[in-house]
Amino acid sequence: MLQLHPVVSDFIMSKTSWVRIEEILDGKKTENIVNLRGWIYRTRSSGNIVFAVIRDATGILQATVKKGNLSDEEFEDAKKALVESSIELKGDVKEDKRAPGGYELRVTRFNVVQFAEPFPIVEDQSPEFLLDQRHLWIRSQKLTSVLKIRSTVVGAIHKFFRERGYFEFDAPVLQPNQCEGGSTLFEVKYYDKKTYLAQTWQLYAEAAVFSLEKIYNMGPTFRAEKSKTSRHLSEFWMAEMEAAWMDLYDITEVAKDEVKFILNEVLKNNKNDLGVLGRDIKKLQHIADSKFPTITYTKALEILNEKENMNVEWGKDLRTIEENKLLNHFDTPVVVTNYPLEVMAFYKPKDPKDPKTALCFDMIAPEEYGEIVGGSQRSIDIEYMKRRLKETGESIENYEWYFDLRKYGSVPHSGYGLGVERLVSWICSLDNIKDAIPFPRTMLRFRP
Ligand code: 4AD
Ligand code: MG
Repeated sequence: MLQLHPVVSDFIMSKTSWVRIEEILDGKKTENIVNLRGWIYRTRSSGNIVFAVIRDATGILQATVKKGNLSDEEFEDAKKALVESSIELKGDVKEDKRAPGGYELRVTRFNVVQFAEPFPIVEDQSPEFLLDQRHLWIRSQKLTSVLKIRSTVVGAIHKFFRERGYFEFDAPVLQPNQCEGGSTLFEVKYYDKKTYLAQTWQLYAEAAVFSLEKIYNMGPTFRAEKSKTSRHLSEFWMAEMEAAWMDLYDITEVAKDEVKFILNEVLKNNKNDLGVLGRDIKKLQHIADSKFPTITYTKALEILNEKENMNVEWGKDLRTIEENKLLNHFDTPVVVTNYPLEVMAFYKPKDPKDPKTALCFDMIAPEEYGEIVGGSQRSIDIEYMKRRLKETGESIENYEWYFDLRKYGSVPHSGYGLGVERLVSWICSLDNIKDAIPFPRTMLRFRP
């Protein structure tokens, strides 16, 4: 069943030059004879004509196959070939207002590279079915557009930091310590001992800033999140930065610049993809051109109280519903600083000007996308950190190496982590973070 078409293609064998669908849709090939290869996205036939919509990595194009314009054998193949069959075509490019994208290909050669079996995905299938079929569903127009945008986002992050003199620095993925709380650690058998998958790159980055000063990284990050929300993955990609000599204010400004830089790169490179996803491009452009405000946690509670009639007790972390309500009063992401010290991770320092709070921040996205960045200045108070770790039952010996960093030429330093999928979800206005990563891992899923 699954073999190549017996007539080995003279297209494949020859050094044919191929055009891509985007070149046709750009109008660069009108009235030309071209060779094109790709997959059948949709097809219907009636009598002596087949209308097939073809896709390649760059777009979709209507191909019209008329009996008489090509050999009878090829016409029969065109009629028979099901959705997702791989094909090579030759034809004339014509402008046609009725075709998607405004152009069509009038086909004179139709070579099937492989006749596809009936494709299991048809319209209106449940999200769970599509997740089971993820290896096939990643060909959909929706996921293709998301993955192109994700590629731009990842490229933009590297570009942003490298253009500003940051070095890329890699930390181990297997780590003996927690950093963001022991409850979300993934334990790994390590020979006859145990270790954990990285929750963050941060602690190792703090070792490296004493030589490299400004560093960044983007890598897989693991959290055994027990919550089944549309914002949590068990494996996600975090883009982190750490810098010596920078304080809280400095890094919030870097984070704002980074997010705007990424938005601008996506707006420059992915207008079509944003269109496929139905994203409001004007809104994104407005955000990319705006100043992002910074407020304190205490101010956030005031806004919630005065404008939303919500009473949040001072000292409680903001929940999703509160973040969403707060963002009703802004049309850009907002940086919130100075969360209550006692609910924060052990490494976040006390603000000497407001000692009940920490020198930390979250950046919260509008449109109910929640926290996209989290970061802080780093504590230099070894005794304070030891106390906080002991309170959560950690063995201090595991952190002695980290405390060493405060003993040999310590300097103020700060850093943050940006959740790549959180950002991609927001940019693409996805319903669920699972569609921001090719093969999602959650509490309930690690296949395919
Ligand atoms: O706020 P978090 O936990 O911060 C840290 O891990 C710091 N050590 C980073 C640093 O200072 N270098 O995580 C950072 C970001 C969050 O703002 C969120 O965007 C994302 O990572 N994130 C998740 N994304 C998807 N699924 C999850 N389970 C996530 N947990 C955090
Ligand atoms: Mg956080």
